[in-house]
Amino acid sequence: MCGIVGYIGEREIKNRLVDGLRELEYRGYDSAGIAVMQNGRIDSFKAVGKLSNLEEKTKEYSTEGLGVGIGHTRWATHGKPTELNAHPHMGEYSYVVHNGIIENYREIKEKLESEGVTFLSQTDTEVIVHLFEAEAEKEEDLFKAFKATIEQLDGAYAVLLVTQKAPDTIFFARKGSPMILGRNRKGEIFFASSDAPLIGEADEVAYMEDGTVGYVTPKSLYTEPQELLFVPLAGDKMTAQKGGYRFFMEKEIYEQYDVMSDTMIGRVLDNDIYFEEIDEKFLEGVSRIKLCACGTSYHAALTSSYLFERISKIPVNVEIASEFRYKDPLLTDDTLFIVISQSGETADTLEALKMAKDAGLKTLAICNVDNSSIVRLADTTLLTRAGIEKGVASTKAFATQVMVLWMLSLFFAKQRKSMDESAIKEEIRFMHYVPKVLQKSLEVHEKCKRLSKRYLHGHGFFFIGRDIFFPLALEGALKLKEISYLHAEGYPAGEMKHGPIALADAELFTIALMPKTLLYDKTKSNVEELSARDSTILSISPDLFDLADDFILTHPHNHPMLEFFEMMVVEQLLAMEIAIRLGNDVDMPRNLAKSVTVE
Ligand code: F6R
Repeated sequence: MCGIVGYIGEREIKNRLVDGLRELEYRGYDSAGIAVMQNGRIDSFKAVGKLSNLEEKTKEYSTEGLGVGIGHTRWATHGKPTELNAHPHMGEYSYVVHNGIIENYREIKEKLESEGVTFLSQTDTEVIVHLFEAEAEKEEDLFKAFKATIEQLDGAYAVLLVTQKAPDTIFFARKGSPMILGRNRKGEIFFASSDAPLIGEADEVAYMEDGTVGYVTPKSLYTEPQELLFVPLAGDKMTAQKGGYRFFMEKEIYEQYDVMSDTMIGRVLDNDIYFEEIDEKFLEGVSRIKLCACGTSYHAALTSSYLFERISKIPVNVEIASEFRYKDPLLTDDTLFIVISQSGETADTLEALKMAKDAGLKTLAICNVDNSSIVRLADTTLLTRAGIEKGVASTKAFATQVMVLWMLSLFFAKQRKSMDESAIKEEIRFMHYVPKVLQKSLEVHEKCKRLSKRYLHGHGFFFIGRDIFFPLALEGALKLKEISYLHAEGYPAGEMKHGPIALADAELFTIALMPKTLLYDKTKSNVEELSARDSTILSISPDLFDLADDFILTHPHNHPMLEFFEMMVVEQLLAMEIAIRLGNDVDMPRNLAKSVTVE
């Protein structure tokens, strides 16, 4: 995914920008570029491929003294990864870098073209710089011109703009795509789309809120609608990378809002789902899907099995990779084989993928790490774009896997005409709310923190749910057991009376996922059965449930997937708070590794 950096200061500017971009490399990119402004002149360089290509191009170039620079690594969404499409994009006298997507760029482009503006690239970003220059023709105050530009953009953006008309100034705006401003005691100013480039450089940073627009010079900083709130950035890499959170897991839970927007960018359009990685003929000859994964990724697979059957009307079966490998599976070439993996290195999943390939099946990977072994092997990959996940307990990777799979089920529904267009549009309408649902909810976190003290003992936890909330129950139980070391199981709510209910007593904790939009009454009767056996019940639901001992109230939503994502965050926070109270190392639980490269 794209990365942004910016710099104002007296050190050599090109190196600052390229070093910053290198810290963002892990996000993946296919071209890079910088623009440097000094003494009213702007020099810009771009290169396709790795940063080393950009370095090669700029090896004769360096700066001395005060100056301003912006830089970008681009992950192609609109238009191919070419030099012309790489950022920064230029107008007559200004340059812009942008992360995100401008949904109404076509209308803006047509209007500007009709006024005589010539466009060089196929990107949505280029409209920003031309629009700014058109506004600057009408308005002398360049911040007002910049603001007027931003107000005309629909979509998600983090934008930095420099213009020869305002030397030493960087204009910036953020909506739906992260942007951080850092500064240090030497008076240097830094921008970055995530904190990695700022560590060791900035003393304090401000994480911009959505809707922020402003400008900065070596002497002044102005923002609307409110001032930026600066917080210290620790000097040591580990603490700094945690960005003020106690654990990487906590940071990653809170990051889900931003990374989900990244996952959706360029793919979830107003009325359509678009995957440039998959062509129209992809499903030709496919009449069933087999999903294969381990652990949390297996739970994402299981969740999607409901979606593929319900939405795309394709028969699905889901396999745990370590089981699949040795069962002499019958593989038929009408099967699309989908593997899901955060790391892309899980030995069992990788081997399962090899078996499917050897059997001549079409293969698709859903993965978070570009260039990983699984990505290299699969015919096609959809990257989840969650960014690096450090906590051993997977959180944002799971969220983005489920999202990609939901998107894919709709994409297939359209290709197979298994759902009418208006119903697909309605699903997409709800999909747009997901990042909001994942936005930090301090009240819910507080509630999880408070409740956690009551759940440190007992002889076990049952997480129960129905339909897609069953895999979510499995995931809640896995999260809890791996970091708290307490015994927890996930069960389909309707299965309890077929055996597990024998364990029910006051020391058995039932975490009941009770969404209002899906089988509420059915789940409720299952919980009532447990309550009648004196099990201690914690209900997670938008409705109060009078038989519950404790409750966490979620927001009412009109779609099961929105309830799913909100309950997922509750499970993550609850597991984390219980583990913290028990004094465990949340990020590095005992006996576990982040990447399981042995079988
Ligand atoms: C649990 C967890 C593991 C992984 C599993 C598969 O929080 O992270 O269960 O999901 O080891 O790993 P990947 O997704 O990298 O294939």
